[in-house]
Amino acid sequence: MTTVVPLQSEHTDAVLQFFRELPQGDLTFIKEDVTEADVVRAWTSGSDRGDRWIALDGEQVLAYAAVLRLPGWSDHVGEVRLVVAPAARGSGLGRDLARHALVRAVEAGVTKLVVEVVAEQGSALALFTALGFSGEALLRDQIRDRDGRLRDLMVLAHHVGDVATAMDTVGLPEALSPPLG
Ligand SMILES: CC(C)(COP(=O)(O)OP(=O)(O)OC[C@H]1O[C@@H](n2cnc3c(N)ncnc32)[C@H](O)[C@@H]1OP(=O)(O)O)[C@@H](O)C(=O)NCCC(=O)NCCS
Repeated sequence: MTTVVPLQSEHTDAVLQFFRELPQGDLTFIKEDVTEADVVRAWTSGSDRGDRWIALDGEQVLAYAAVLRLPGWSDHVGEVRLVVAPAARGSGLGRDLARHALVRAVEAGVTKLVVEVVAEQGSALALFTALGFSGEALLRDQIRDRDGRLRDLMVLAHHVGDVATAMDTVGLPEALSPPLG
C-alpha cells in the first residue's frame, strides 16, 4: 500500500536512492543536483522542513513532491516540484501526490502556485493542466541540459484565490480536482 508522509531526516537514504535510480534523462530536467547527499540532507535539517512529501511503499520511495515558498515579496507563491519513479508512472500517483501537496500548500497560506516545466515534458504539462494550471510564461533558452544544450522553460501557474473561497462549500481537495465532464 502506498502512503504519503512528510519528508523527515530518517528518509534521507531512501530518497537519495530514489533519485540516484532515476534515468539520466529525468535528472536533466531537475533543477538541483538531487543525487548529492548534502542537497537532500539540507531539506530535512533546514528551516524549510514540512513542505516536502514522499510516497512510500514500505521503505521504498515511489515519488517526491515539494512546494517551496518563494522569498520576500513573492512569499505568497509556492513553486511545485514533482518526481515519480519510472516504474510507478501512469497509475495516478503523480496526480495524487501533486494534489496532496497543493492542498497542504493552500492550507498553509499559499495563494499562487507555479511549476516550471521543460518544453519537452509532455506528461508534466498534461498533469498540471488537468489540475487547473495554465501557461503563464515561456522562457526561451532558459536552462542548459546536462549536454549543455539550451532548452525552453514553461512556467505554469494556478491562482488559488478562487479555490480558497470554494473551500468553504466543497472542501479544498474537491475544489482542486479537475472539473467533471
Ligand atoms: C510528470 C510525472 C510526475 C507524472 O507522474 P505519473 O505518476 O506518471 O502521472 P499520473 O499517472 O498521475 O498521470 C496523471 C495525468 O498526467 C497525464 N500524464 C501522465 N503521464 C503522461 C504521459 N506519458 N503522456 C501524456 N500524459 C500523461 C495524464 O493527463 C494523466 O491523466 P490520465 O490518467 O487521466 O490519463 C512523471 O512522469 C515524472 O516524474 N516525470 C519526471 C519529472 C517531471 O517531469 N516533473 C514535473 C516537473 S516538476
